[in-house]
Amino acid sequence: MKQPVLSEWLLTQLSQSRFPARMPNHRRVYEAIRRAITEQVLPSGCRLPSTRSLATDLGMSRNTVLTAFDQLLDEGYVAARTGSGTYVAYNQPDEFSKNPNVIHSLNPEGNIIGLSRRGLIASSTQNNHPSDHSSNHPSNHEVQPFTPGADDYSKFPFELWRRLLNRQWRMLDPALLDSSHDGGYLPLRQSIADYLRVSRAVNLKVDQVLITSGTQQSIDLCARLLTDHNDCVWVENPCYWAARRVLEANGLQLHPVAVDNEGMAPTTQDFRVKPRLIYTTPSHQYPKGMVMSYGRRRLLLDYAQNQGAWIIEDDYDSEFRFEGRPISSLQGMDQDGRVLYLGTFSKVMYPGIRLGYMVIPPQLVAPFKNGLYELQRPGQVMIQAALADFIEEGHFASHIRRMRQTYGERRRLLQAALAPVANAGARLSPVDSGLHLVVEFDSNVDDIRVAEMAAEKGLRVYALSNYCVGAKQEKGLIIGYAYAATEHITHYGNILANVIQESLRKQALA
Ligand SMILES: Cc1ncc(COP(=O)(O)O)c(C=O)c1O
Repeated sequence: MKQPVLSEWLLTQLSQSRFPARMPNHRRVYEAIRRAITEQVLPSGCRLPSTRSLATDLGMSRNTVLTAFDQLLDEGYVAARTGSGTYVAYNQPDEFSKNPNVIHSLNPEGNIIGLSRRGLIASSTQNNHPSDHSSNHPSNHEVQPFTPGADDYSKFPFELWRRLLNRQWRMLDPALLDSSHDGGYLPLRQSIADYLRVSRAVNLKVDQVLITSGTQQSIDLCARLLTDHNDCVWVENPCYWAARRVLEANGLQLHPVAVDNEGMAPTTQDFRVKPRLIYTTPSHQYPKGMVMSYGRRRLLLDYAQNQGAWIIEDDYDSEFRFEGRPISSLQGMDQDGRVLYLGTFSKVMYPGIRLGYMVIPPQLVAPFKNGLYELQRPGQVMIQAALADFIEEGHFASHIRRMRQTYGERRRLLQAALAPVANAGARLSPVDSGLHLVVEFDSNVDDIRVAEMAAEKGLRVYALSNYCVGAKQEKGLIIGYAYAATEHITHYGNILANVIQESLRKQALA
């Protein structure tokens, strides 16, 4: 199969926020190529495509690409050889050139051959384990078209956001330079409370809302304040890997509870293992995607009340529901104050904003406010104030509407492109919300190998078995569709569908 060409890789890069559309195009192209050179995605000596063909592929004028190349020439990143084109001329410092993650060449068509883990075509030892995010390897931050968990924040209204931030900085209220007291900036907590009442049927008073630096910190706070070392926590199986990490890091014993079509499905045996905490994603099970049924919700709430356990409801992506009515929160059904409801701005705004919120049962508000302040000393009140304006002025709602449309379209295109995998015995799980879908395999399939084969084509997807707690019984792929540009998703989806079919056939014959 033809390997992705430099221009495709550049197009993916240019859609990222570090190359915002408001930058002149020649500057964006220059930055993207310069970055590829300094990070050795393009190593010294490799030949760049002609400015004419690159301009055509990128849909830009040749002058734009020429200006970018001129700047690269002026700064010594590339050298022109009369009659034979432009070559990367930049020599890396020694420690970089020893880096094993280096691509070796472009083939004559300008296709990247043997690209590294960092780059387009990952090595076969590519990180398919979701927890690889927790290591420090730079490749873990390299996003590819189907990387689960990566959203397209290039569509975020940055200009507007900057204006709102600037407005706060101009007014310079000294209170906003302090750490965040009393659960966070009050107008933001009020806006969140209004939003949750209407959109998520959460039952709350403003005082119960606490601003944290995202769900990871919220879970950490729950674990620290509500459990003792070695306490048992029920987690869904398969489970969100980052929640698992923070619960384990708090010395808790994870007890996996299987999920079925109705969500978390505790059995009689599970009920014998008494939890202090229950971590669940009822509106959209992570990663498999089902919605928890009314019966299961009741069961969990009653059980938590009888056992004195706490339920952590992680409602991470409910803004992106494409079909049917919005799913109400589990918290909204809770009469006994057992549910701690968690939300995040990582998906709707951008992950680096590191802002999320918790809705705490009334009896826990005081200890949680203290705990948050004493243990984590939160800040960023200026950003909280800008975010309150963003919500109050209606930008949050319109951004969600816009992105829901964009992601909904990408989901539809990806589903269509992946439909042929059914011919090889794979099952595409129905998906009416969220930012990823799951293709499930029979239990004898090596899903890690399938993900590796996708990585060899430059498509990063995760193996479902790596989300299992204990025995890796579930096999499949987690495929994110939020990041890939709409106009490329069918192309990449076709490649992935072929990889899946080919890999399953090979495995069946082996
Ligand atoms: C299940 C789940 N919960 C929460 C989050 C968001 O976490 P945070 O707010 O720490 O960025 C994610 C992000 O991918 C997620 O997948």
